[in-house]
Amino acid sequence: MATYDLVVIGTGPGGYVCAVRAAQLGMKVAVVEKNATLGGTCLNVGCMPSKALLHASEMFEEAGHSFAKMGVSVSAPKLDLPAMMNFKQQGIDGNVKGVEFLMKKNKIDVLKGTGKILGTGKVEVSADGKAQVIETKNIVIATGSDIARLKGIEIDEKRIVSSTGALSLDKVPGRLLVIGAGVIGLELGSVWRRLGSEVMVVEFLDRVLPGMDGEVARQFQRMLEKQGFAFKLGSKVTGVEANSKALLAKIEPAAGGAAETIEADVVLVCIGRTPYTDGLGLKEAGVALDARGRVQIDPHFATSLKGVYAIGDVVAGPMLAHKAEDEGVAVAEIIAGQAGHVNYDVIPGVVYTTPEVSSVGKTEEELKQAGVAYTVGKFPFTANGRSKVNQTTDGFVKILADAKTDRVLGVHIVGREAGEMIHEACVLMEFGGSAEDLARTCHAHPTRSEAVKEAALAVGKRAIHM
Ligand code: FAD
Ligand code: NAI
Repeated sequence: MATYDLVVIGTGPGGYVCAVRAAQLGMKVAVVEKNATLGGTCLNVGCMPSKALLHASEMFEEAGHSFAKMGVSVSAPKLDLPAMMNFKQQGIDGNVKGVEFLMKKNKIDVLKGTGKILGTGKVEVSADGKAQVIETKNIVIATGSDIARLKGIEIDEKRIVSSTGALSLDKVPGRLLVIGAGVIGLELGSVWRRLGSEVMVVEFLDRVLPGMDGEVARQFQRMLEKQGFAFKLGSKVTGVEANSKALLAKIEPAAGGAAETIEADVVLVCIGRTPYTDGLGLKEAGVALDARGRVQIDPHFATSLKGVYAIGDVVAGPMLAHKAEDEGVAVAEIIAGQAGHVNYDVIPGVVYTTPEVSSVGKTEEELKQAGVAYTVGKFPFTANGRSKVNQTTDGFVKILADAKTDRVLGVHIVGREAGEMIHEACVLMEFGGSAEDLARTCHAHPTRSEAVKEAALAVGKRAIHM
C-alpha cells in the first residue's frame, strides 16, 4: 500500500494547486477526485465555461451592435448555439488537460473515486463498488461547494436550472427568470440576454451584488437596465409551477404581501452555494463543522482532527477560485514547515459582465460601519482618452483612502476590462501603499488604467483630466 505525505481530496483550483505546491516542496502526493474529469467546479461547470460563453456572446452582440459605427460592415450575425457550446467545451477540455498534465509533470498520483476520511492518516477511496484504503501523513479537504436550492422549487436542469444547466441550454429561452442578483445571475443573465432572451432578475434584497460597494452596484444596475435587464428587487420567488407552455413563478415582496405571477420559459436559481461535505465521513472521523456547515479550521487551515486540513469553498470566506488557490499554496507550505499565509484583506472580486465590475478591499459602507475616516477619489471613463476613442465610456474608478495616512483601503471599478485593471490596486494594497504612491506612478498613455491613476490623484483633489 502506497504511503503518501499528502492526500488532497478534490481537484478544483484549491485541491490541484495545493497538490502541485506540495510536490514542488518534495512531498509524495496523491489527489482523489470523484468526477470523471479533474478541475472541480471552476474548470468544468463554473469559471471557465461561463467565461467562454460570456466572451462568445459578447462578440455576438458586438458584431450586431458595435461594428457598424466603427465602419466595419457585416451582415447581421446569426447564432449557431451548438457551435458556441462546442467552443465552450473546447475551452473546458483544454484546461482539464492542462491540470492532467500538471499532475503528471509533478508526479502526483490521481486516484479516481470518492474519498472518505477514516481518521488521522487514512483515506478510503471508493469507485465502482470497490474500496481501497490509502495511508498518508496529511490530508487536505478541498471538496468545494454545491448549488444552494430553494425549498419547493425542483431543479431539473432543463427548464428550472442551476448555473450548471444554464451553461448548457440547447436553445435560447424567450423569457429567462433569474432568481438572485448575485454574480451568477448577472453573468449568466448577460449571456442569455445577449443571445436574445428577455431577462428578469428577482432579488430578495433591495440591491444587486450584495457585498459590493453600494454606489458601484447602483450605477451598474442602471447600466444593465439600459441593456434590457429588468429587476424586481426586494422580492422573493415562493414557487414555480409548470404547464406545457410556460413556467409560472409566484413572486411576493420580501417582507410578505400580495403575490404576482410571472411567466418564463426557463428559471435560473442562483441564490448562493453551500459547502460540499457529502460522503466524506467527517462526523464519524471527528472533523467539526461550523454553524453554516463549513469545515471549521484554525488560522493555519487545521481542522479539529490531527493531520487534516481544509481549504477553498468548503471553508469560510469568499467562494472564489483564486482564494482557494492561494489557500492551497499556503496550506502546502504550512505542512512543509514553512510560513504559508493568505492576506484576506486583499482578495479581488470580479464580475465578468459588460461592463465588468471589480473590487478589492473595503467598501464605503464597510468603512462607515467601522467608523474609519476616509477620503474618496473618483474618476469616470468618460474623461479617459482611450475610452473616449473606443466609445466605451461607461463606468468609473473609485478609490477609498485612509483620511489620516492616505493608505489605500479599497478600490472599486465598473467599466470595460475592470477585471484586469484591479490588479495594480492589489499590488499597491499588498505593500500598504498610499493614494499618493499610485498617483505618482507613471501609467502608459493611452490606457484605461490611467483612470486608476486619475482616481488616485482625485483623492488629493488634483485629477488632471476632470
Ligand atoms: P471545487 O472547484 O468545487 O472542487 C471540488 C472538487 O472536489 C470537485 O471536483 C468535486 O468533484 C470533488 N469532490 C467533492 N467531494 C469529493 C469526495 N468525497 N471525493 C473525491 N472528490 C470529491 N470563481 C472565481 O474566482 N471566478 C469566476 O469567474 C467564477 N465563476 C464561477 C461561475 C460559476 C457558474 C460557478 C458555479 C462558480 C464560479 N466561481 C468563480 C467559483 C469557483 O468555481 C469556486 O470558488 C472554486 O471552484 C472553488 O474551488 P475548490 O477547489 O474549493 O472546489
Ligand atoms: P451570490 O451569493 O453571489 O448571490 C446570490 C443572490 O441571491 C444574493 O444577491 C442574494 O441576496 C439572493 N438571494 C438569496 N436567496 C434569495 C431568494 N430566495 N430569492 C431571491 N434572491 C435571493 O451567489 P451566486 O450568484 O449563486 O454565486 C455563488 C458563488 O459563486 C458566489 O459566492 C460567487 O463568489 C461565486 N461566483 C463567482 C464568480 C466570479 O467571481 N465572477 C462568478 C460566479 C460565481
